[in-house]
Formats: sequence, structure tokens, C-alpha cells
Amino acid sequence: MKEFRSILNTGASLGIGAALARHYAGPGRRLVLGGRDRARLNAVAADCRMRGADVALLVADVTDRRTMADGIADSDRAHPFDLVIANAGVSAGTLGGPESTDQIRRIFAVNIDGVVNTVQPAVECMRRRQRGHVAIVSSLAAWRGFPGAPAYCASKAAVKVWGEALRGSLHGEGISVSVICPGYVETGMTAVNDFWMPMLMPAEKAARIIARGLARDRARIAFPWPLYAAVVLIGLLPPALIDPLMRILPAKGGSVRS
Ligand SMILES: NC(=O)c1ccc[n+]([C@@H]2O[C@H](COP(=O)([O-])OP(=O)(O)OC[C@H]3O[C@@H](n4cnc5c(N)ncnc54)[C@H](OP(=O)(O)O)[C@@H]3O)[C@@H](O)[C@H]2O)c1
Repeated sequence: MKEFRSILNTGASLGIGAALARHYAGPGRRLVLGGRDRARLNAVAADCRMRGADVALLVADVTDRRTMADGIADSDRAHPFDLVIANAGVSAGTLGGPESTDQIRRIFAVNIDGVVNTVQPAVECMRRRQRGHVAIVSSLAAWRGFPGAPAYCASKAAVKVWGEALRGSLHGEGISVSVICPGYVETGMTAVNDFWMPMLMPAEKAARIIARGLARDRARIAFPWPLYAAVVLIGLLPPALIDPLMRILPAKGGSVRS
């Protein structure tokens, strides 16, 4: 089992990221919590410090390439990261009508560029010491383009495939990569959905499953398994068979802000 001591986690102010921060918080752990909202990050940081962790903040928008690169390099110099989790993400769909170009671009910017802006500087640091673990948060929505959330599904498919490939390409450099694909988790992201979400689970449970998978160095941490099996099957079915079902699925709500 892998043991992580120095961890960077983006999107740590809310939801799954905050639950992961609290899960890892403990004596002997150094956590760098990323997000844009300093007040929310401070609240999570206070909890983590109470649990005995040494905590620093990376207050930055993940789409800001330069700030992310500098922030990650500076933090890594002081406390070399052994785990970097690219978790920050946004979601919205077609509930209010077809996706605007602004919505599509914002989702791609945060969920794809933001992941690249986190992973690349981290890999640069890890490469020098030939050691480290990178985790990319994708989704079970990556297996099929669902009409209710086209840009979101596309963004999650992009980082899933990128992460899978990186695991192979970085293996020889001593860097491991895991792709995390959760189903429905109770966070602000799913609170806007007014449809039934099968097997919806608390963020704390998701954090435990993710941490267990990372400790075991799993290539893919996809859960819950019945929903995982369902999306794999949906992805395998020919469009002519599955398209009629896709068309009647509910659309995702939510909005994305810069
Ligand atoms: N909830 C689910 O059911 C579910 C399922 C599958 C995958 N996921 C994925 O899990 C990840 C976390 O989602 P969540 O459900 O925990 O969402 P959430 O509760 O809305 O939290 C999103 C986090 O991302 C941060 N964030 C958003 N945009 C950012 C930006 N431009 N720069 C920096 N940080 C940013 C937010 O912090 P600030 O607002 O403070 O910046 C917040 O901490 C996402 O990648 C999501 O796609 C979620």
C-alpha cells in the first residue's frame, strides 16, 4: 500500500475535494489545498489543521497557467509532493436549452486545461526525483456522450484518456497515474440536478473509495461498480440501439462562472 505524506489537491474548498482533504488530514501530513475562494478554503484548512495536518493554500484559478505552474513549483520545492490530485471541475448541461459557446469553452477550460495546468508542473517536479503519483478526476460520464451534458462528458472523456495514456508514458520515470471516475456524489455539483441519481453517495464515502484506490495504485478508480458496469455497457452498444434511450434522459442543470 502506498503512503502519501505531501499532497496537493485542487478543488479542495467544496465537495469531493474538501472530503479528500479531510480524509487525508492527520499528523505527519502536509496538504496544499487549491481553489479560488479563500474563505471556503480557510474553513477546510482549519478542519484539517484540527486533525493534525500541516496545511497551505494555493488560491488560484486552475485556468491560470502561470499562477498554477509557479504555485506548484514553489510548494514542491518546500515539501516535495508525492500525490497531486487534479480534482477541480465544473459542470453544466442543456437543462436551460442548448449549450452556449461560452459554457462549452468554460467547461473545457476548467476541466481540461485546468487539469493540464495542474498535472504538467507536478510531473515536471516529480520527474526530477523519479517518484510521485498523479490522480486525475474524470467521471463515469466519460464513457458516452450524454445529450444532457455534451461539453461535460467530452471534457471528462478527454482527461480520462489522457490520464490512461500518461500512466503508460510516465511509468518508466517512476511516476504513477490514476484516473478517478466517480458516479453520483452528493456535492453542490449534483445538488442542482432535479432528477433521480442512482446510487448517489456522500462525498466522505467517495473520498474513502478514492483514497483506498490510490493507496493500491489502481490505474482506474471507477465507482460504484453497478453504475460503472452500466456505463461501460452503454458505451459498447451501437448508437442505433442506445440513441433513443439517450434522448429521453434528463438534462443536467447548473451554471459555470469565470
Ligand atoms: N459530484 C459528482 O457527482 C461527480 C461525479 C463525477 C465526477 N465529479 C468530478 O469531481 C470533481 C469535484 O466535483 P464536486 O462534485 O466536488 O464539485 P463541487 O462541489 O462543485 O466542487 C468543485 C471544486 O472545484 C473548484 N473549482 C471550480 N472551478 C475552479 C477553477 N476555475 N479554479 C480552481 N478551482 C475551481 C471549486 O472551488 P472554488 O469555487 O472555490 O474555486 C470547488 O472546490 C469535478 O472534477 C467533477 O467533475 C463529480
